[in-house]
Amino acid sequence: MAINSPEGTRDLLPDEAKFWAHFRDTAFGIFARYGYQPIETPLFEQTDLFVRGIGQATDVVSKEMFTAISGENFKRVMEGGTIKAKSRLSLRPEGTAGVVRAVVQHDLVPQGAAPAKLMYAGPMFRAERPQKGRQRMFNQVGIECLGAEDPSVDAEGIIMLMRFYAAIGVPMDATRLLVNSMGCEQCRPKYREAVREYMNAHAEHMCEECMRRAEINPLRAFDCKNPGCAEVMEGAPKISDYLCDDCREHYQAVKTYLDGAGISYIEDPTLVRGLDYYTRTVFEVQVVEGMGSQSAIGGGGRYDKLAEIEGGRPTPGLGFALGFERMVLALEAAGTLADSPKRVDGYIACVDPSVRATAFDLVCAARDAGLSVEMDHQGKSLKSQFKMADKLGVRVVIVLGPDELAQGKARVRNMTTHAERLVDIAAAKRLLAQFGGNLVGGGAAPVSIDALFDAEGAE
Ligand code: HAM
Repeated sequence: MAINSPEGTRDLLPDEAKFWAHFRDTAFGIFARYGYQPIETPLFEQTDLFVRGIGQATDVVSKEMFTAISGENFKRVMEGGTIKAKSRLSLRPEGTAGVVRAVVQHDLVPQGAAPAKLMYAGPMFRAERPQKGRQRMFNQVGIECLGAEDPSVDAEGIIMLMRFYAAIGVPMDATRLLVNSMGCEQCRPKYREAVREYMNAHAEHMCEECMRRAEINPLRAFDCKNPGCAEVMEGAPKISDYLCDDCREHYQAVKTYLDGAGISYIEDPTLVRGLDYYTRTVFEVQVVEGMGSQSAIGGGGRYDKLAEIEGGRPTPGLGFALGFERMVLALEAAGTLADSPKRVDGYIACVDPSVRATAFDLVCAARDAGLSVEMDHQGKSLKSQFKMADKLGVRVVIVLGPDELAQGKARVRNMTTHAERLVDIAAAKRLLAQFGGNLVGGGAAPVSIDALFDAEGAE
């Protein structure tokens, strides 16, 4: 029996993989304008990094981590031994903890330095129950800005996020942007206590898990999907009534920046997000219809204590991440998922096998000149080769036949206008050679396939 991909994972077949590349490039292009630079961190980290950073009481850490140990250590555990903490590894469930670890480890924000603005893209792993829009391996693009606590950083992050959604084709009226402030270490403990007391007073209507977690972090109850808990939590105390003056001022400044940039948002005092590291500003973009419970297509917030939790010096931070697969679903639901662009410029068709060597030569020269060109590799008939060229959506087909070749010519057909002309092969090759190495050397824009029509010597 054939083996399929593991549950909760999906292959990104070429069309979707191309769209992922487009999604990533569009995001990186926009974020670069705001000063962000790429960073790559390992797909797995020490388990303790996530436990400390994301929080023991979160679903992500308590239920959804893919934790691994090496074969040798596995044997040790099976034989009743113990292993060092640093040998316990987990696949990254998100990118922030790892990026902050890298910032601390490599001292990317030395005292007094400009903030480190970092962006990343790649797979994340959460052992959740798979359903539409919820996978065990999914792709995110994210940013993290470390070293600045000014509210302009929070607003800049939210603006970038919304600019990205607009650029990729998510209709703004199909989404809502929720914002909230979660307070800081001064004001949040009082709020947390108020929520805990409230939950204790309503314990008979709440699930056991919420009550158990109430001891570690009662705010997690806001995320509980149990209808009874959700109803009780609607009446819970609101963080907005507990913010200290500094947090209130910070939150107000973020909103003023957003108003100035014309960004619409909804204030949601119950938005707590599923990760424990957040302080002050949090935000989430949700799709209004058609995505059920998995409606969040991106979110983030400020985490001013995370660097210290990870053993670094105090370094404020803010970031967000966007989920690729959920965004594809959102674009499909909105009917704005663009066809992936076809990028094959030309096709070189052979009338018979005697011309294949010349065709191969021409294909190589055209590719070196920066063109995307295909030829037949299966000995198909000329008719089938034209069908293939049509399927690839090429603009130009060059037909090589023995008679024309004997005179050093090839027939070039424009597939849009159906115009045809004879072109001198040596002239076409000279033209391509002028652009040769464009791709390799990263030189000027590639030659246009249409130029082959005008190759000197054309009749
Ligand atoms: P998050 O809200 O957990 O935040 O994930 C960000 C996005 O990843 C979600 O909005 C969603 O689109 C996507 N996502 C999450 N889980 C899944 C899943 N199981 N299947 C498919 N898509 C999923 C974070 O990850 C934070 N690190 C964001 C951040 C960066 N905060 C500060 N900096």
